[in-house]
Amino acid sequence: MQTDPQGPIAIAGAGRMAQSLGRLLRERGERIAAVASRQMDHARAAVEFIGEGEAVSYPCLPRCAQRVLIAVSDGAIPHVAAVLAEAGMSGGAALHTCGAHGPEILAPLAARGVSCGTLHPLQTVASPAQGVEALQGCTFGITAEGAAAAWAERIAAMLGGRALFVPADKRPLWHAAAVMASNYVVALVDAAVMLMGAAGIEERDALAAVAPLVKASSANALSLGPVRALTGPVERGDVETVTTHLSALAAAPPAVRAFYRAAALQALDIARRRGIEETKARKLEEVLRESGGKNA
Ligand SMILES: NC(=O)c1ccc[n+]([C@@H]2O[C@H](COP(=O)([O-])OP(=O)(O)OC[C@H]3O[C@@H](n4cnc5c(N)ncnc54)[C@H](OP(=O)(O)O)[C@@H]3O)[C@@H](O)[C@H]2O)c1
Repeated sequence: MQTDPQGPIAIAGAGRMAQSLGRLLRERGERIAAVASRQMDHARAAVEFIGEGEAVSYPCLPRCAQRVLIAVSDGAIPHVAAVLAEAGMSGGAALHTCGAHGPEILAPLAARGVSCGTLHPLQTVASPAQGVEALQGCTFGITAEGAAAAWAERIAAMLGGRALFVPADKRPLWHAAAVMASNYVVALVDAAVMLMGAAGIEERDALAAVAPLVKASSANALSLGPVRALTGPVERGDVETVTTHLSALAAAPPAVRAFYRAAALQALDIARRRGIEETKARKLEEVLRESGGKNA
């Protein structure tokens, strides 16, 4: 069966991603025929936010549209794919929004001739309304072929975003990178605030203090690239300062110490690309690795 690129869309899931994408697509002229959830009140709330569609259960979706956007929790995707397949979905296209997996988790649908793919928005969506703002212009990591690929590219273009094709077997790397750029930046801020706490500075003051630093450092890394943006003791080859840090960190939580060492080793790699004197680089590496052995 041919997939009609102008035909209606059905959405599996009524959470943050389902609502944000549904609303944006509706605003760009797509017809949202139905939204499914396990709980009808969730589906109804999503329909209200999106501004169009019928609130239904998952098995009802295939009769509503040939194109299904699956935005349920990662663990529920295979189950929802199986339910849609059992309910008779065949032909058409299905996209899921999970970053860690490729189209293979939609296997029951692929077996019924559905063109399957992944459309992962590289953005954090904390609420439907915030998602509507944030998803515009973001990058979409796509793993798909044929009709699913064409639909995924169309969604990225409609939202003013970029489409990047990610090979199926590289999706875990893509997702690890996304997690580092999002969740682990949060973890890094938390570790810095913990160290300030140990220096007697309250969390609120510490967050306010590091805010301009975090913003300027990430803005520089993103605009200049890491090699030109790096400053600080590792970039200067200042072994003495790094040694002082490592001694002071001896009383810090093990995860914070490990975080410092791992980030310093990555910074050293950047410093090498920038041309740090190799004797200084070796000394820094030695000090960082030795401290790992001592405090691990
Ligand atoms: N939020 C983000 O920042 C973000 C970013 C990129 C990609 N994604 C991806 O987008 C997808 C949805 O994430 P989300 O943040 O929108 O999640 P969410 O707000 O927690 O919503 C999850 C949805 O999944 C449904 N669900 C959960 N377990 C289910 C099950 N066993 N069977 C059927 N349905 C089930 C829920 O249904 P009920 O309404 O019935 O409870 C709910 O509608 C995930 O694959 C996620 O990896 C999210």
